[in-house]
Formats: sequence, C-alpha cells, structure tokens
Amino acid sequence: MDIDLSGKTILVTGASGGIGEAIVKALATCKATIAVHFNKNDAHATDLARAAGHDSRLFRADLSKPESGVVLLRNVLDAYGRLDVLVNNAGVYLNSPNDGKIDEWLAKWNRTIAINLTAAAVLCREAVNYFKQHGGGRIINIASRAAFRGDYEDYFAYAASKGGMVALSRTIARTYGKHNVKSFVVAPGFVRTPIVDEYIKQHGGESIMKELSLNELTEPKDVAPTVVFLASGLMDHATGCAIDINAASYVR
Ligand SMILES: NC(=O)c1ccc[n+]([C@@H]2O[C@H](COP(=O)([O-])OP(=O)(O)OC[C@H]3O[C@@H](n4cnc5c(N)ncnc54)[C@H](OP(=O)(O)O)[C@@H]3O)[C@@H](O)[C@H]2O)c1
Repeated sequence: MDIDLSGKTILVTGASGGIGEAIVKALATCKATIAVHFNKNDAHATDLARAAGHDSRLFRADLSKPESGVVLLRNVLDAYGRLDVLVNNAGVYLNSPNDGKIDEWLAKWNRTIAINLTAAAVLCREAVNYFKQHGGGRIINIASRAAFRGDYEDYFAYAASKGGMVALSRTIARTYGKHNVKSFVVAPGFVRTPIVDEYIKQHGGESIMKELSLNELTEPKDVAPTVVFLASGLMDHATGCAIDINAASYVR
C-alpha cells in the first residue's frame, strides 16, 4: 500500500529527537510537508527539516509557557496557509520523589502538566477551531502506556498528564466528528530515547526488558509508521481509539 501525503501540512511537536524525529522521517518518505517543532535542540532540528524536504520548515516554541501553542499554530498557518494534521508529541518525563520537598514536587508536577497536557490541549483547541472552518483535519496525540496502566512511584505527574491527554483526545473525537475532525492516541511503552535516560540510570535497563514480551526494546522507528497510517486517513473510522505500542508489556 502506497501512502502519499504530498500537499499535506503536518505539525509535529518535539520533533528534534527521539520519537518525533522518527515520525518526521517516516512522514517525509510519504512526501508530507512537515512543520518541524523544537525547543532547545536547534542544530538537530535544522538538519532534520533540511533532510525531510518538501518545504519542511522549523518552528521553535517553549511549550512550558501556556500560550506558546497559540503562537506556534499561528506561525505554522502563516507559513503554509494550511494545516492538515497535528501530532502532539513533545513531552518530558520528570522524576519527582513523593517523599521529597513539596515545593520541588509541585514544581515538577506543574512543569510536566504544562508541557505534556496544557500545551497539547492548547494546540488541540487551536487546531479544532481551524479545522472546523477549513473542512476538517486529524489530531494524533502521543500519550503513554502510563495513561492506562499507571506509572512508577515517582512519576505521578507523568501518568496524570498522559491520562489527561487520552481524555482530551477522546473528547475531541466524540464532539468534533461532524466537523470532520478525527482524533487518535498512540500509547507507547518504553522506547529507547533520551527521555528515559534518567530512569535507566537509576533502575538499569534489565527491569525494563523484564516487562516486555519481545526480546528487543522498542525503538522510535517502531512507533512512527502508526502515526503515518493515522495521518493518511486510512484509519479515520477508528477515531477516538488509542493504539498501544508496548511490546505486550501491558495488554489491556
Ligand atoms: N521514550 C519513551 O519511553 C516514551 C514512552 C511513552 C511515551 N513517550 C512520549 O513520546 C513523546 C516523545 O518522547 P521521546 O521519548 O521521543 O523523548 P525525547 O527524545 O526526550 O524528545 C522530547 C521532545 O520534546 C521536546 N520538548 C521537551 N520539553 C519541551 C518544551 N519545554 N517545549 C517544547 N518542546 C519540548 C524536546 O525538544 P528539544 O529537545 O528541542 O528541547 C524533544 O523534541 C513524549 O510525549 C513522551 O512522553 C515516550
């Protein structure tokens, strides 16, 4: 099956590494025009946007700031005049010990919710308002296994942020379908990217491998094709769904 995304403009947040980078590369092979969002990693994002081709361009935004999503979406629309798919992928995974100081715990809680949930919600809001006026569109939210299974003890905020993202995504699917807006969740388990470095440093890689049914740790390239498929429109009647990619570490 050939998937041709030429003429489609797709915003991928957190595209400067890990899963986002793999999503950009996969979308580029289908000729999509990609708005490559990043925050700090400009060198890597610049190379990626150039290699992606098809008029893909860079967009910087610090998504810890509540209104930055509004500006980001406006910048993409100003640059291309259209948006077909929003991929909310940017995220953080902050360890926050429950027996630590409450102000430190709250700082990590607030930062996690701001980047993982509030920014995604603002971008969804801006996108659905645009899609409503322009014939529809698709939203793909990269959540996590943690949304369904729960996470480890020092990651309350992360699990809560991803659970919120699932509820957000399903609400959009239920309420904007008549405006031709489709909304999906992709829920990875552990994936080999920098976001899990701290966890692996503390707990070792073995504990992760024990949870998996497969012999290999999931790589970003194992997640990206699902996003391409969802972006293509071939899965539109699965709107509202959440697709697990967790090597059977949590089967629900
Ligand atoms: N890896 C896993 O095991 C795993 C499992 C389940 C779900 N996920 C989810 O997958 C998504 C991608 O994670 P990843 O594993 O690919 O992690 P990653 O390699 O660390 O990439 C995270 C991305 O988020 C961006 N980001 C972080 N803070 C930001 C901020 N304040 N403003 C804007 N962008 C920000 C980073 O941009 P800069 O580097 O440019 O600052 C980077 O592009 C996340 O939502 C994560 O929760 C990951």
